[in-house]
Amino acid sequence: MQKIEAILQPSKLDAVKDALLEAGIEGMTILEARGHGRQKGHTEFYRGREYTVDLLPKVKIEIVVPDELKDKTVQAIIGAARTGKIGDGKIFVTRVDEAIRIRNDEHGESAL
Ligand SMILES: Nc1ncnc2c1ncn2[C@@H]1O[C@H](COP(=O)(O)OP(=O)(O)OP(=O)(O)O)[C@@H](O)[C@H]1O
Ligand SMILES: [Mg+2]
Repeated sequence: MQKIEAILQPSKLDAVKDALLEAGIEGMTILEARGHGRQKGHTEFYRGREYTVDLLPKVKIEIVVPDELKDKTVQAIIGAARTGKIGDGKIFVTRVDEAIRIRNDEHGESAL
């Protein structure tokens, strides 16, 4: 299993959620976040305007998927979130050793 964490412009959340549903991804967690990338303390676009700030509002999506869905998931996020401007966000992928559905003790991919 793989965990895909994507940090996005908040305005892209709905489009990314739709793209993930279309790709057959069922479970996900959305977190509100603040952050900066390499333009730290410099100019970035937010809601169409240019800002000079330290930390900007972002959303983070966390998704755990079977290995074979990793590429499809990443492509769905990129396809929906990319504008080509700075601050589009970032995706991190890590391996997940175990998943457990609390309700019935299912383990591994069948718990996803
Ligand atoms: N190395 C990192 N580790 C953790 N979070 C990061 C990292 N880089 C970026 N982020 C998170 O992703 C958000 C978006 O980053 P951003 O897209 O601005 O990256 P960037 O490297 O500055 O690329 P760009 O030049 O396209 O802006 C940041 O606000 C921060 O929350
Ligand atoms: Mg940036």
